[in-house]
Amino acid sequence: MEIGSGAPELAASSAYRQRRDEIAANAATYVPGEPIPEVEYTDAEHALWRLVSERLADRHRHLAAPEFNEAAERLGLGSDGVPQLHEVSDRLDQLTGFRLRPASGVVPFALFCGSLADGYFHSTQYLRDSVTPFYSTEPDILHEVIGHGSALADDRFANLYRLAGEAVRRVESEDAVQFIAKTFWFTLECGLLDSADGPRAYGASIVSSYGELEHFRSAEIRPLDIADMTHVDYDITQYQTTLYSARSLTHLEDVAGEFWASCDGTSIEKLLVVDI
Ligand SMILES: [Fe+2]
Repeated sequence: MEIGSGAPELAASSAYRQRRDEIAANAATYVPGEPIPEVEYTDAEHALWRLVSERLADRHRHLAAPEFNEAAERLGLGSDGVPQLHEVSDRLDQLTGFRLRPASGVVPFALFCGSLADGYFHSTQYLRDSVTPFYSTEPDILHEVIGHGSALADDRFANLYRLAGEAVRRVESEDAVQFIAKTFWFTLECGLLDSADGPRAYGASIVSSYGELEHFRSAEIRPLDIADMTHVDYDITQYQTTLYSARSLTHLEDVAGEFWASCDGTSIEKLLVVDI
């Protein structure tokens, strides 16, 4: 199948939905601790993986943070075809102790993030619709594995994921969970790091979208500031209009890492009240 061909959108979407449900059914019956079931990917799905991963690799050289690129190199995914989730999981386990679990779609944030505290990352196994290879409004294996998986291959990024997970486990109110979700969004999903040549991306949503990689420098880019995030809304279905850039990975650890390591329901409540 030609990627991004002019096939009727409705027919393509229907076929896509059916295939996606078929793959997602794996996750519904998955028992933690058991091997992750393999998916027999089609030639078209392998072709989509090749197209997206090659275009991403090309853009990562100039637009992704060097720390992200080094982490991706450690994971060593390659662009030949869709990897099996259990292979990626075994590799991550060797590198940083993280393991993957299959997910059937978006996982509720408290569950998704809480699992990070235990060193598990929920990952879908299906790919995005081939009519929109440059971007996906929902997580797919390209986003999970190339975006999050690469970061999880590095001890420093992996530690930030764990800290965010522990923070979610520590708080009780929905407001506090939602605020931690927002800080996760503006860092590990959409975060930037300063460089001499301008901001570079490390956040999984941006580094897994070759469309948004071309676009993110047009956003309003603010210095990383947790309190400032209380004023900003975001829409996960669009390219981001506001982003935060840390001065360095150490600065990210000092600001976001320290926040997640120390926050509790009371401190977040104060932040939300003060900054209304
Ligand atoms: Fe994500």
